[in-house]
Amino acid sequence: MEYEKLMEKAIEASKNAYSPYSKFPVGACVLCENGKIYTGCNFENSSYGLTICAERNAIGSMITDGERKIKAIAIYSPNMKNCMPCGACRQVIKEFQTDEGVDVITKFENELKIYKINELLPEGFIL
Ligand code: THU
Repeated sequence: MEYEKLMEKAIEASKNAYSPYSKFPVGACVLCENGKIYTGCNFENSSYGLTICAERNAIGSMITDGERKIKAIAIYSPNMKNCMPCGACRQVIKEFQTDEGVDVITKFENELKIYKINELLPEGFIL
């Protein structure tokens, strides 16, 4: 799947975000090695620390479906140009990287930016 389409799915997912506290909706779309895709949005809680980020929500669906290898993940917030994954999500993304790593795709105005997970989380913890 083209990365533009992946970003479109992340944008769609952001519309379902439940973010009444931060008012910061986020959507994510994971592309697996085998071409399957999974979307997620952030969902918050009145007990703030229970918030789940969009990326980890999408990855949870991927895991539930039996998939383990992320080729790319697109992340989007309507509230921020180039919305980047938080540190916790970087660690979780890295856990499921392919041998070629993971492309992390963000949107800056009308263009996509592509980062490698290993540049966003160098020397990350892996058992
Ligand atoms: N958020 C994400 O969904 N992904 C990130 O990588 C950064 C932060 C969410 C969590 C919270 O609901 C809101 O954005 C503000 O932090």
